[in-house]
Amino acid sequence: MSAFFERFFDDFTKSREFADIELLNPLDMHLHLRQGAMLESVLPFSARSFALGVVMPNLNPPITTTALAVDYRDEIMRLSEDFTPFMTLYLHENLSLEELKEASVQGIRILKLYPKGATTGSENGVREVVSERILEILSLAQDLGFILSIHGESNGYCMDREFEFLEVYEFLARSFPRLKIIIEHMSDRRSLESLEKYENLYATLTLHHILLSLDDVLGGLMQPDLFCKPMIKTPSDRDALLLCALSAHPKVSFGSDSAPHLQSKKYSAHAPGGIFSAPIALSVLASVFAHYDRLENLQSFVSDNARKNYALDSVLCDRRKVVRLTPKMWEIPQSVACENDAISVLFGGRKSAFRQIEGN
Ligand code: NCD
Ligand code: ZN
Repeated sequence: MSAFFERFFDDFTKSREFADIELLNPLDMHLHLRQGAMLESVLPFSARSFALGVVMPNLNPPITTTALAVDYRDEIMRLSEDFTPFMTLYLHENLSLEELKEASVQGIRILKLYPKGATTGSENGVREVVSERILEILSLAQDLGFILSIHGESNGYCMDREFEFLEVYEFLARSFPRLKIIIEHMSDRRSLESLEKYENLYATLTLHHILLSLDDVLGGLMQPDLFCKPMIKTPSDRDALLLCALSAHPKVSFGSDSAPHLQSKKYSAHAPGGIFSAPIALSVLASVFAHYDRLENLQSFVSDNARKNYALDSVLCDRRKVVRLTPKMWEIPQSVACENDAISVLFGGRKSAFRQIEGN
């Protein structure tokens, strides 16, 4: 029996004719770019497909100050001409109110909350979200117009962690009605209900959570390349999230959560979570939306929703990065080289139906 996602590859286009697709300013609202050699290896793939990426701060050490965020932004900008890194600040208990004000002055607009220990680089995260200290920070964040992005997982059973965290999302949404809160990499169908309940709750969706289920990760030989946080869940979660993407739900934006790790780490006894999807994200999304005849919604899902919900007009201004995809098969590379190692590419080895045309 072939996996659900196989239908989006190889020859599904043989029986139908598709036109070229043009996307204006695709935006990746959740992206891990790392630093140094790995940044150099992975950045070209995001810069080729996206006008802007929300750059996650879970480095070692994490991006906890404006000065670190500005240095990191400079490091990224030195390596790419046509890509806007939209920086985030790592929320922790000792973040001072002055630091938050300084971040705001320097144009940093997103605060990222990791519960301590939830994922890669969360060792310095928040121990107790609903605590006096964190609520004080969030109150100022609301006044300064920050967006709060949350890796929302409890420390309970791994498949229920996002669901268990929904009460925290809802408490924060009620307590700070003017603070936009993002359910990052939404993975559980039950989160969709919270989105409808609170006007100020939004979400990002990855490619892997709309196409894969736990069966693909663990149902046959174990696939460390498909292991990520939050865990990929059941077929019914996948199906509900896929529908949400295909309909371009107005409160949901694409965020790849492309999170590269070296194969030497991924194939070791303690594989870290993270899926590297930047090289294929737009091309596979095009196949998925084409397969379901929903191409008219792709522009909203990969750009317009985020532009509106994150108020990006002042950042993008009259930017016109047009990305073109043509219905032509290409083989996805298995991996991307990084120093003497490699990073596996999601769906490597399969044939994708839409190819991005270079030289836009
Ligand atoms: C991310 C990483 O590797 O930085 N890993 C992951 O499994 N998604 C961190 C994160 O977003 O959870
Ligand atoms: Zn992430």
